[in-house]
Amino acid sequence: DKAGHKHFMAKEIAEQPRVLAAALGHYLTPEGTIALPEPGIDFTAIDRLTLVACGTAFYACNVAKYWFEQVARLPVEIDVASEFRYREPPVPARSAALFVSQSGETADTLAALRYAKGQGAQILSVVNVTESSIARDSDIALPILAGAEIGVASTKAFTCQLLVLGALALEAARQRGTIDEAELAAHLQGLRELPGLIDQGLSIEAECQRVSRGLAEARDILFLGRGRMYPLALEGALKLKEISYIHAEAYASGELKHGPIALVDEHVPVIVMAPHDELFDKTVSNMQEVMARGGKVLLITDAKGARIAGEGTWEVITLPEIDPLWAPILYAVPAQLLAYHTAVAKGTDVDQPRNLAKSVTVE
Ligand code: F6R
Repeated sequence: DKAGHKHFMAKEIAEQPRVLAAALGHYLTPEGTIALPEPGIDFTAIDRLTLVACGTAFYACNVAKYWFEQVARLPVEIDVASEFRYREPPVPARSAALFVSQSGETADTLAALRYAKGQGAQILSVVNVTESSIARDSDIALPILAGAEIGVASTKAFTCQLLVLGALALEAARQRGTIDEAELAAHLQGLRELPGLIDQGLSIEAECQRVSRGLAEARDILFLGRGRMYPLALEGALKLKEISYIHAEAYASGELKHGPIALVDEHVPVIVMAPHDELFDKTVSNMQEVMARGGKVLLITDAKGARIAGEGTWEVITLPEIDPLWAPILYAVPAQLLAYHTAVAKGTDVDQPRNLAKSVTVE
């Protein structure tokens, strides 16, 4: 049932405020702690966290790495499951391994989990399907409570994965004493505001639809982001190529001049994801290098960023202001809407893109 939407993907994008609110209700206690299933997780007993997944779930891990490292000062290793499982890395004592999977059945992720388990690591997972192999094989499985996701391109599962990982990073910070009470309260409040902000963020849909008509003409599209926004650039590029079949690549903004800038000309739209945060000026200077070479920039930012850096761009999409820590969750919305409307403009099969399956149970 598409609930009046043209595609499951559109329905699932629109559902995000509601499912995020449900996940928040599940994990945030009124006392300002994070409720975890028994026996809980002792973050003071681990010195390292390994995050492993595939595809979009892997990009959620990429964002979470910034959160765990910056807020909880916990070193994080991330890897795609298909590499992790065959690399057979040493898993040090006092470490936990966390596996992120919407379906809970991805073959590579499950095999990576079993490897880490064999090495004696504590096994955590963040799953949507709680009756799944990955959930069953974990010491603790954290549900994301996104509800059934039917569209092959992951949307609400991604933002719910981020929400759970963000809450977990805050809990790790609280236990490890790397955050003071006021900061913790502010970031928790930021999480609570997310459903409302995503709801506001969804109002950019008409603009995304208009810009997408331009994107649909392109053969190649680049995405740029820095810091916490780099994984969002990766996710934007994946979503776009998956359903619109347009070749899209993402780069960390600082890598641009180490090669990819050679691709830039007036035919290549460059989508820059840059909330006005501590790295904004750096990203903007990379963006200006693109514009100086005739590149057509779509800047996705907030009102402040638009005021400072909007001039000379091809298009600007403006999102509400948000706690910079949680910006990756909000900026998933334009990544989804641009991919969706570009695919619709091209007339591709949005919910069932060619060559892809919802659950990849063979390697
Ligand atoms: C992209 C997408 C895939 C999945 C990946 C992992 O939109 O849906 O990249 O994220 O196949 O799947 P799960 O999360 O089920 O392990």
